[in-house]
Amino acid sequence: MKRIIIASNNKGKIKEIKAIIGEQDIEILSLEDIGFTGKITEDGHSIKENAIKKGLCVMKTVGELTLADDSGLEVDAINGQPGVFSARFSGQGATDERNNRKLLALLNNIPMEKRGAQFRCVMALIYPNGKIYTAEGICRGRISDRPIGDKGFGYDPIFIPDGYDETFAQLGDHIKNQISHRAIALDKMKNIMISEGLID
Ligand code: IMP
Repeated sequence: MKRIIIASNNKGKIKEIKAIIGEQDIEILSLEDIGFTGKITEDGHSIKENAIKKGLCVMKTVGELTLADDSGLEVDAINGQPGVFSARFSGQGATDERNNRKLLALLNNIPMEKRGAQFRCVMALIYPNGKIYTAEGICRGRISDRPIGDKGFGYDPIFIPDGYDETFAQLGDHIKNQISHRAIALDKMKNIMISEGLID
């Protein structure tokens, strides 16, 4: 059976990727599944650069077809921050909770109509021969005034997607997988994978 390595150990992401690709004749494996313990540096200047870096790093170690994703939250009122720094926004030892708290504090007193934001995701498909395809997805929304909901991960409790009145953490996977930045990028990537003959 064909195999594809997802350059991530984030269980939330792997679950979303598996759900969107669906039942296919291809084995989808995480870094944990293949025992990858190497260090992946994410020091690129953009989300796209980081996705390619992550994918190349894993592909060069395991020598197999690799799918990497990098994503981040870009908040209008603070010039697109945290962007490429989304994971480590609150400094060393950053946690989702601390990142959310820092962002809410920065947006304190900013009215709802000025709390626009977007999640951006770039997927990079890397072949062992070095061929690279990328696909991008953007999901617009706004930042809530407090964390609400217990589903999802990361900034989900404070992100309300356009067209909804609840956060991703309230809406849950079913809706998120239809509209998220990752769903949009992965849908485009799915088409690339179909035209490459990797899946049906
Ligand atoms: P990375 O793509 O794993 O580097 O994620 C960058 C940061 O963005 C992390 O803090 C994630 O928690 C956050 N992030 C990425 N995708 C999502 C999402 O779908 N919901 C909430 N937070 C996300």
